[in-house]
Amino acid sequence: MNTQTLKILSKRFREYVARFRTDGELHPMHQLKLEHSIRVSADARAIAEGMGWVPEEINLAEAVGLFHDVARFPQFQKYGSFSDADTVDHGDLGVETLRNEQLLEGVAEEPRELILHSVQYHNKKDLPCTLTVHEEKHLRLIRDADRLDIFFVCWHSIHSGHIHDHPEIAMGIDFNGPPTPEVLERFERGEAIDYRSMKSMADRFVLQLSWMYDLSYDASKRLVRERGILDKFLGVLPVRSDRLLHCFDATAAVLGGVDKPISGS
Ligand SMILES: [Fe+2]
Repeated sequence: MNTQTLKILSKRFREYVARFRTDGELHPMHQLKLEHSIRVSADARAIAEGMGWVPEEINLAEAVGLFHDVARFPQFQKYGSFSDADTVDHGDLGVETLRNEQLLEGVAEEPRELILHSVQYHNKKDLPCTLTVHEEKHLRLIRDADRLDIFFVCWHSIHSGHIHDHPEIAMGIDFNGPPTPEVLERFERGEAIDYRSMKSMADRFVLQLSWMYDLSYDASKRLVRERGILDKFLGVLPVRSDRLLHCFDATAAVLGGVDKPISGS
């Protein structure tokens, strides 16, 4: 995708979002998603650049980042919720929105199909079984970029005292509760952590550490390190235990570039 096409898409995205403004203002939940989309598109570009992709692929990654959550705008307007389980799958709705609103008009077929594919599957629990090399490359990138921003939002919302403005993070769990043994066991065994087993904010952090293990690109891991995400998490962690801190040490080792245990610092 050339730079001119990316510019056109960026303008189209902002015009689409502007339709959700009332008296010039977005609902705060829409504003959050607008800011998230802009940060994810910047991170998608940063990861793609970090991996040495060619300019056409970097631009495509940025476009996917911009549109990955486009469905969040109609979803919240219609249902007043970001819960896919209670409303609609926002990856599937994203594809529908991009098609119905003709937001990708004029984009060549291959990049258009890649954007649609990445938007559809960015939020699915597992990657689809059959993927072309090109699909997998972009799908893994948007999943990394999305998670990078979730790390930031999770830390920032607690650090700034605004966690309750983020229902998708607070999710009615016990903020000061201890880590759940089942969650710790699954992390230690390298198994996927089920959302339904999370009871405390400490569990939420363990889940995010497990996502750090699953980052696909070295450039994504490097950004986690450079942004000091683990230290930021430790700074707002509501409870501490040796076992919980060990999860942080193990994650630091996987991220690389850290030569002393975090819990000992
Ligand atoms: Fe999403």
